[in-house]
Amino acid sequence: MAVLPALFGLLLAVVVSGQISVDITPREAVRRIGGELSVLCKVPYPIDSCRMSVGSKSYRLIPNDGQGDVVYAGLGLKEGECGALIKNIKEEWNGNITCVLPPPQGSIELVGSMRLLVARAPGDPILYSSPQPSFKDGDKFMAQCVVPNGRPAAKITWFLGSVELLAGKHQPVLTTEPGTDLQTISQNVSKILNDDDDNKILVCKAEHEALVQPKEARRQLIVQYPPKRQESGPITIFGLKLGAEGRLNVTVRANPRPTAEWTVGGQTLLPSRPTEGGEFIALEPLQLGNGYYNITLVVARITKEDVDRTYYLQVDNGLGREEFVVRISTMAEPAGVELDTGAIVGIVVGVLILLVAVFLVVFAFATDRWCFAGRRRDNTKSSGESSDTESAVGGRERSRLAGLSARVRAVLPRAKDKVQATENQVADTEDKPLSDDKKGVVYAELALGEQTSTEKPPPPSTEYAEIVYTDQPKETKETN
Ligand SMILES: *[C@@H]1O[C@H](CO)[C@@H](O)[C@H](O)[C@H]1NC(C)=O
Ligand SMILES: *[C@@H]1O[C@H](CO)[C@@H](O)[C@H](O)[C@H]1NC(C)=O
Ligand SMILES: *[C@@H]1O[C@H](CO)[C@@H](O)[C@H](O)[C@H]1NC(C)=O
Ligand SMILES: *[C@@H]1O[C@H](CO)[C@@H](O)[C@H](O)[C@H]1NC(C)=O
Repeated sequence: MAVLPALFGLLLAVVVSGQISVDITPREAVRRIGGELSVLCKVPYPIDSCRMSVGSKSYRLIPNDGQGDVVYAGLGLKEGECGALIKNIKEEWNGNITCVLPPPQGSIELVGSMRLLVARAPGDPILYSSPQPSFKDGDKFMAQCVVPNGRPAAKITWFLGSVELLAGKHQPVLTTEPGTDLQTISQNVSKILNDDDDNKILVCKAEHEALVQPKEARRQLIVQYPPKRQESGPITIFGLKLGAEGRLNVTVRANPRPTAEWTVGGQTLLPSRPTEGGEFIALEPLQLGNGYYNITLVVARITKEDVDRTYYLQVDNGLGREEFVVRISTMAEPAGVELDTGAIVGIVVGVLILLVAVFLVVFAFATDRWCFAGRRRDNTKSSGESSDTESAVGGRERSRLAGLSARVRAVLPRAKDKVQATENQVADTEDKPLSDDKKGVVYAELALGEQTSTEKPPPPSTEYAEIVYTDQPKETKETN
């Protein structure tokens, strides 16, 4: 029974130091009307009574007596626990909940308090903003949302369209109605408007514990902006057929509605006024929604002359003007992305690699090297020739090379000069390893022919590198 003296010592220490207090949890809570709350008061010694005041009433709590809306909850009085489960929370219970416990000694009861906020739904949110019906691209827009009389204050979030608006929010301001604990929250947002904001809905959303559904206040933004093109540079309309009707469509974005003016071969076309011969009809801009318009020129019968023409389109909506150059083509629209210079270089290089590979195979076949070489040597060995026939084979290869270079000249009419130019150099630099030479593709091929059959031909990628980077130096060499 060493526990009791120890406990007593602890109590004494607490009392002497004057720090004995009721530990109450939670210290604050927000509950809806009809909701539930558990409050627990705890002291470090056994108690023999437990009272809790909720609203204007004081309840005597007895363990295992589960009657009414306020009942005992806890591990027992012996554990020093005085807790309550509070059910069916009423509006008038908003305020402090206090527990009252006997002191470890003396006669002054101990109390602990927590604050219960019985949630009260706020009023409808009100959105204040400039009354002007529409704005211009670049205008600064300000709005204020006020959500009155909530307990606690409501929480405001902003949306523009379906996207939460995070930038441009000011600090929310809370005010309390005098004599009540109802709070009004207001928050401002500001934003520089642009064309993407046109038609979007600004939403102030109020969320609150006492609201099943958030409440919203909204305003649609109308932003006016000059015509904006959807693609840069000249427009080409593909897939038109000679002799058939052609429609030249250009999509623009503008607010307000734009007007279009086409200029073809010096004559200006206005919507719905066909040219004298009826060959062109400019249509009224077709509204696609969300500020998009299709502007169409109908060519009644496409002639060769029409294909060669350039069509100019001017789109104006009072706020600005955009000009387009349109060409037409009878070809089908190129599939996928257009080829840039990198892709073209890649294709050229790929073709060259293929050519080199083909030449390698032809050379290897013609000189019986590569995979054919092994079989050949086996044949000579089996026929009883001594090992010094290797040098004889080398001599034969050399003479075959001469014939081969002649064949190369025949096959490569354009490269003829280069072959001749490099032929002398071959003789000069015969012994140099291939990798040191940067003379060019044809020379590389010839040097390959010079190699002994035990060496493998360099991989095609090496050939490719030599081709690409030796083109320029060779040119300068020839001009020297
Ligand atoms: C509620 O309790 C707080 C301390 O938690 C106290 O300051 C306040 O005066 C109490 N209010 C009432 C109405 O008793
Ligand atoms: C919010 O905007 C209103 C007017 O729109 C202004 O009176 C108020 O001072 C602004 N508040 C803040 C915190 O910017
Ligand atoms: C061009 O627009 C017209 C309507 O203005 C539409 O009927 C036609 O399908 C469009 N043509 C093309 C190729 O986009
Ligand atoms: C509008 O024009 C675009 C081409 O600019 C075309 O793809 C689209 O089909 C057209 N839409 C209508 C409704 O005419």
